[in-house]
Amino acid sequence: MEIQVLTGNISTLSVGAALAELYEGQDPLEGVLVAWDQALGGAISRLRAKGEIKGKPRELTLIHTLGRLRPERVLLVGLGKREELTPNRIRDAAAEALRYARRLESETVATTILGAGVAGIKHEQAAQALAEGAILGLYTFRRHQARGENSQDLEKLTLVDPRRKNRAELGQGVTTGRILAEAANQARDMVNEPANYMTPTILAQEAQKVAQAYGLECQILNREQMEAVGMGALLGVAQGSRQPPQFIILRYRGDHKSSRLLALVGKGITFDSGGISIKPADGMGEMKGDMAGGAAVISAMGAIAQLKPELNITGLVPATENLPGGNAYKPGDVLKSMSGKTIEVISTDAEGRLILADALCYAHMKEKATLVVDAATLTGACQVALGNICSGAFTNNQSLVDKVLRAGQETGERAWQLPMFTEYKEQNKSDVADIKNTGGRYAGAITAAQFLAEFAQDTPWVHLDIAGTARAEKDSGATVKGATGVPVLTFVNLALALAQEEEEA
Ligand code: BES
Ligand code: MN
Ligand code: ZN
Repeated sequence: MEIQVLTGNISTLSVGAALAELYEGQDPLEGVLVAWDQALGGAISRLRAKGEIKGKPRELTLIHTLGRLRPERVLLVGLGKREELTPNRIRDAAAEALRYARRLESETVATTILGAGVAGIKHEQAAQALAEGAILGLYTFRRHQARGENSQDLEKLTLVDPRRKNRAELGQGVTTGRILAEAANQARDMVNEPANYMTPTILAQEAQKVAQAYGLECQILNREQMEAVGMGALLGVAQGSRQPPQFIILRYRGDHKSSRLLALVGKGITFDSGGISIKPADGMGEMKGDMAGGAAVISAMGAIAQLKPELNITGLVPATENLPGGNAYKPGDVLKSMSGKTIEVISTDAEGRLILADALCYAHMKEKATLVVDAATLTGACQVALGNICSGAFTNNQSLVDKVLRAGQETGERAWQLPMFTEYKEQNKSDVADIKNTGGRYAGAITAAQFLAEFAQDTPWVHLDIAGTARAEKDSGATVKGATGVPVLTFVNLALALAQEEEEA
């Protein structure tokens, strides 16, 4: 889809649909709506007077212009109360409106700059939110269907503003929004891809493609190299699969004067059968998405390389399948992690924390990370606790988690912090090794995080459990059914914010 910025009058464009905003409240019609109302014989004012148009968030009103205006249809987009408007709301409204336009099979759509100048939202922010809403909201995954490319996709979206002086700002907003949303969609593609098309090797190739495209350093450790650094936990999980494990490293260096380094770590289980502790058959196919954290890291690194924050960042993705088989690791096995700590395997289905243990060690031991944020579809318990509304956040450093939570809030990827009281650690005590890989029935998301904390050690670290948020059951705003791309936007926004605070210091 092409996104264009145009200086001019939206009413003069021959498009399938033209979008304009409406707010809740009794204020008189404004801007382009005055002209549309007149041309349509007062239809908009009458619908408002009758209460059919309220301007509530998510309200969409379609009016056919039947030759009275150049656009074939106008689509009035409710944005709610003016003072409550946020870029998130603009993004979601744009996504809903454009999906509606797509259902009408209109191939070209024009829109005013929804929300610009309202509640302190700048033209650039509004344009960014519009571009994000368009690209995220119209996402489809049809690679494996015969219909393929040829169903009615929106061809062109034109952002129209009457003032020439806003043009550069609008263009900048669209560019930023496009980079962010396309990164999230790229992660969605990887997560939606079935596991036979997204093996650890293919995931590593995706990372290499991103590195090539945007100028990142890419290094992939193979099994021998993992053995050499002592990644016994990752290698234990990988034992049952015919697919070779891959340890993916992407490096972005945006600040050569600083030793500050952010490591983004993502769980890369390309299929989680549970291993010998095998999962029930029902819904097992969803476990093709158990590399959502890893996909988010790879895509976020690509967006970071394009947006160029002044900060050093390394992306790390331990990638393997988790399968049963004659050589698979077993309950009762003891694994030796890269840190030297030994781990008793209680369940081979608690594999995510094992591969992350070695990745977290690698982050501080080899990459010298000073800040670490990981994302993982780690526990069903987190999904039970928080549902699909927000991710779980866990930390050993309150100031870092505050930044992560803010970065998520601003991008519409919410997270909620759960406690890390030391008492929870007791559930991970083993009789035969230094730690065990499950903590029993209660507080499963927290005991998993406490396990990871042992391997993050003293480095400021945040863990995001995205088991509930990596997939959506239905379309809603900028989210579409299937993979969500969470937490790509959080990662990128966090990187930008950390670079900004360094500059201010
Ligand atoms: N990948 C799963 C967690 C998961 C569950 C992600 C549902 C997305 C949706 C993880 O590897 C797992 O199997 N966790 C176990 C841990 C248990 C054995 C301690 C779980 O949550 O049941
Ligand atoms: Mn598992
Ligand atoms: Zn898993």
